Amino acid sequence: MSGIELKSPDEIEKMSRASRVVAEVLDALRHQVRPGVTTAELDRFAEKFIVERGGIPAFKGYQVRDQVYRHTLCVSVNEAVVHGIPSGRALKEGDIVGLDVGVVVEGYYGDAAITVPVGAITEQARRLLQITEESLHKGIAQAVVGNRISDISHAVQVHAEAASFSVVTDFVGHGIGRKLHEEPQVPNYGEPGKGPRLKSGMTLAIEPMVNMGRPETAHLSDGWTAVTQDGSLSAHFEHTIVVTEAGPKILTRL
Ligand code: MF3
Ligand code: CO
Repeated sequence: MSGIELKSPDEIEKMSRASRVVAEVLDALRHQVRPGVTTAELDRFAEKFIVERGGIPAFKGYQVRDQVYRHTLCVSVNEAVVHGIPSGRALKEGDIVGLDVGVVVEGYYGDAAITVPVGAITEQARRLLQITEESLHKGIAQAVVGNRISDISHAVQVHAEAASFSVVTDFVGHGIGRKLHEEPQVPNYGEPGKGPRLKSGMTLAIEPMVNMGRPETAHLSDGWTAVTQDGSLSAHFEHTIVVTEAGPKILTRL
């Protein structure tokens, strides 16, 4: 059927260790976010934190086509959807900031993202964050043995669109394990009942990206940052999970 690798308990233990560092660094970063802090400062904080815990930043050195990513974090501010590059830009009150991080421990990967408010944000922005995180959990709830991949996708889409937001279709979630990106792709949209069947030992990174306006994205000339075409705000939440006979288990949660 596919190249989807089921992980052994020993492999899942290693992914859990990587994922724990991911969860810890995101929790620590949440408290570093405030007006005036630069996205490069957040990146340096995250790298030090991960290395001190025996992990390796997974995105640093990651290659897509002919480009190499040079940072520990992806930091995506406001209309940035994903893959924002850390820089000297200082966060401002009212911004929302997506923090995406991967860690490798003993050759196994964990990957997660959160989007957090900088100080006080508008009610609509707060709602975007809430609905996006909820849509992640609606998707995770479908990650049960016997369901298919698109049952996850469909649950995410239905929840985001019921709130009159749109899901990004230009990027997808993914299998994860000995590589950051493995099969299968996990879209955030689609009809239910399609795609590979979920089995115990499948490890997935589920990662809805939800826009306040239209779903289309564009790339900045930095070669990485994806932004909304219409300039509307975008939120991103991600967890690494394992499908088990007892249901989905979130590895990137404290
Ligand atoms: N977490 C993202 C993903 O799952 C970011 C990786 S892109 C990188 O695709 F280049 F920054 F590594
Ligand atoms: Co990911």
